[in-house]
Amino acid sequence: MPLVSQPPNPRPGEGQRPADAARTDDQKRNAEANMQWGGRFAAGPSVVMQEINASIGFDRKMWRQDIRGSRAHAAMLGRIGVLSAEEVQAIGAGLDAIAADIEAGLFTFETALEDIHMNIEARLTERIGDAGRRLHTGRSRNDQVATDFRLWVRDAIDGLDSQIEEVMRALATRAGEFAADPMPGFTHLQTAQPVTFGHHLLAYVEMLARDRGRLADCRRRLNECPLGSAALAGTSFPLDRHMTARALGFDQPTANSLDAVSDRDFALEFLAAAAISAMHLSRLAEEIVIWCSAPYRFIRLSDAFTTGSSIMPQKRNPDAAELVRAKTGRVTGALVGLLTVMKGLPLAYAKDMQEDKEPVFDAADAWALSLAAIGGMVRDMAPDTARLREMAGSGFATATDLADWLVRVLNLPFRAAHHVTGRLVARAEARGVDLAGLTLAEMQAEEPRITASVFDVLSVEASVASRTSYGGTAPENVARQAAQWLSVLG
Ligand code: ARG
Repeated sequence: MPLVSQPPNPRPGEGQRPADAARTDDQKRNAEANMQWGGRFAAGPSVVMQEINASIGFDRKMWRQDIRGSRAHAAMLGRIGVLSAEEVQAIGAGLDAIAADIEAGLFTFETALEDIHMNIEARLTERIGDAGRRLHTGRSRNDQVATDFRLWVRDAIDGLDSQIEEVMRALATRAGEFAADPMPGFTHLQTAQPVTFGHHLLAYVEMLARDRGRLADCRRRLNECPLGSAALAGTSFPLDRHMTARALGFDQPTANSLDAVSDRDFALEFLAAAAISAMHLSRLAEEIVIWCSAPYRFIRLSDAFTTGSSIMPQKRNPDAAELVRAKTGRVTGALVGLLTVMKGLPLAYAKDMQEDKEPVFDAADAWALSLAAIGGMVRDMAPDTARLREMAGSGFATATDLADWLVRVLNLPFRAAHHVTGRLVARAEARGVDLAGLTLAEMQAEEPRITASVFDVLSVEASVASRTSYGGTAPENVARQAAQWLSVLG
């Protein structure tokens, strides 16, 4: 609820608990909130206090994780004899009913109940009575939220990992298709040497493979269970933390209760992995934007991935690519934002840490959508192979091949070969031809020992075919690597 629509904030000291029956909705909710933690409170929070304090507007996204955590905690409390079998059963049934209500959109999330943890617990107690009130034994919202959030990030990692895999599959498939099609390779966005289109696409497969590796590392370190660390010091109840950890799919319980409730490294690592991956996607998006521009015309995106202009009928705008490029900003912002929240926080939990969720949720959404859009564009794009081939041969792209020939055949030192080649490029440029357009006599004017066999290395096809070094752009390499990736990806 936007703050502006709220009644004015009461003056300090002015109680909000009404004596009369005509209580406002907000005041009723205040009274309700107090029931959760208000034993020593005489009055409910002010409207602005509620507004700034509540996280239910966004942490409701974690309702599944919260219910999973509560189930595991209740089962463990039953095992150690803190809850009776009937109570565990009632809690389980109550949580099932709540899950069904949320799923069906029938659950009313209350701002006054602050967060997802208290919303679910309050509803549980409403439904099943005292057993609901016993669920919080040996647990605090501090370890509860840390557990729920780890579970959420872990689920997000698993989803994103398969999305990245899907994009890699799309790239490797297209790479195999265009393994032998030359295009200009650039450095400084200046024509450098011919490469194949497939080779270029496989470069992104490598980047995305490392992105998956980062997610896997993050998942491994994240996979410890904070539940049972309680508020900060642990608990006097004989909890079986190994049991809850196992039940929730964690490798083990966290080892230090202070660290467990105040650590958000897992969220930061996730955001760092997201920021790096979004940066990769942004580079590809930028190339797509360049490639489908009119001066380049390297690829064409279909109507499915372009938009028109309301004024210029000829336009086909690559909006999806531009938005992938732009979303990198919010993902990077999320990382920097959370780092800034966490820096300088004393141990253990502080409410500042509630600001951890929105950046993570937002970055995860932006990343997932970017992956879907990039995957779609990779599958959709139609490279103009004739144009790519033509441009691959322009800009003296085989000059390095000429220099290498001078070294290999005439045994010139590379620096001398570089110099001779430079002079030949200047001649060709002056005459408006490419290197293969020079006559043998013109070549020999710069270096008398040059023979006609030099022309064999000046074609684009010869250039890419010669790059057989491991990881090089030779079509046979590219075809093999594309096939290898596809078999690894399954
Ligand atoms: N909504 C809180 C969060 O997201 C839950 C933990 C609250 N703990 C507390 N001691 N107030 O961080």
